[in-house]
Amino acid sequence: MKKKLVVLTGAGISAESGMSTFRDSGGLWEQHRVEDVATPEGYERNPQLVTEFYNSLRMKLPDLEPNQGHRLLAMLEDRFEVTVVTQNVDNLHERAGSSHVIHLHGELTKVTSSWNPNNPKYIKELQPDEYEVHVGDLAADGSQFRPFIVWFGEAVPEIEKAISYCEQADVFLIIGTSLNVYPAAGLLNYVPWGVPVYLIDPNNVAVSSARNVHVIQKGASEGMKEFVRLMEEG
Ligand code: APR
Repeated sequence: MKKKLVVLTGAGISAESGMSTFRDSGGLWEQHRVEDVATPEGYERNPQLVTEFYNSLRMKLPDLEPNQGHRLLAMLEDRFEVTVVTQNVDNLHERAGSSHVIHLHGELTKVTSSWNPNNPKYIKELQPDEYEVHVGDLAADGSQFRPFIVWFGEAVPEIEKAISYCEQADVFLIIGTSLNVYPAAGLLNYVPWGVPVYLIDPNNVAVSSARNVHVIQKGASEGMKEFVRLMEEG
């Protein structure tokens, strides 16, 4: 029986693939106001601006490649039952070969109904030649297609599933997240006490938990090499 490895990832694991993070200097939230492009109110106010913002991110995807951090994580499925709980909306974990990925904040390659955003009937996976969405492109219920993204202030439908995996973890690993955004940042609290927790990040991350966290202060690729070595040492 393989041990259960649960991994919480954030924008940092995709940094080495060329995706901007949000809160590092030069990050996305320095270039755009969150309230304009990542809230339902912002979308209501200016659907064109929001549609163009996500188009710009989505149309970069084909030029990005998973990095060694993504790939080493996928290879750990040989030794662990791995569940990746990601805050990222890119598809780099899947393209690296991770087979069990829970997207807490949605997926860039999907659009959905703006009236019934979480009804699976209306969620559409875009093909690369459809990555440029236009105002006027309608979902099956006749509403404007919106990004299949969880915006600030919206429910996080996948959080209960993520919590149930954290509660069963034998090892918990955090990679590339500033742990600023809840409920994702609170998942560590569901990991049973005594389960080893590792954190990979080149910068200091404030972890609001009294438990002992094994910090690997490196980027995702170098950090994953060290993590794999630690797991091999047993
Ligand atoms: N390797 C690993 N981590 C890195 C790297 C790297 N090469 N470069 C930067 N980081 C770390 C930063 O030090 C930081 O701790 O990645 C983290 C990125 O933090 P944020 O930019 O806050 O991104 P994230 O934590 O994923 O944001 C969470 O906020 O805006 C919302 O929905 C958005 O999902 C996002 C959520």
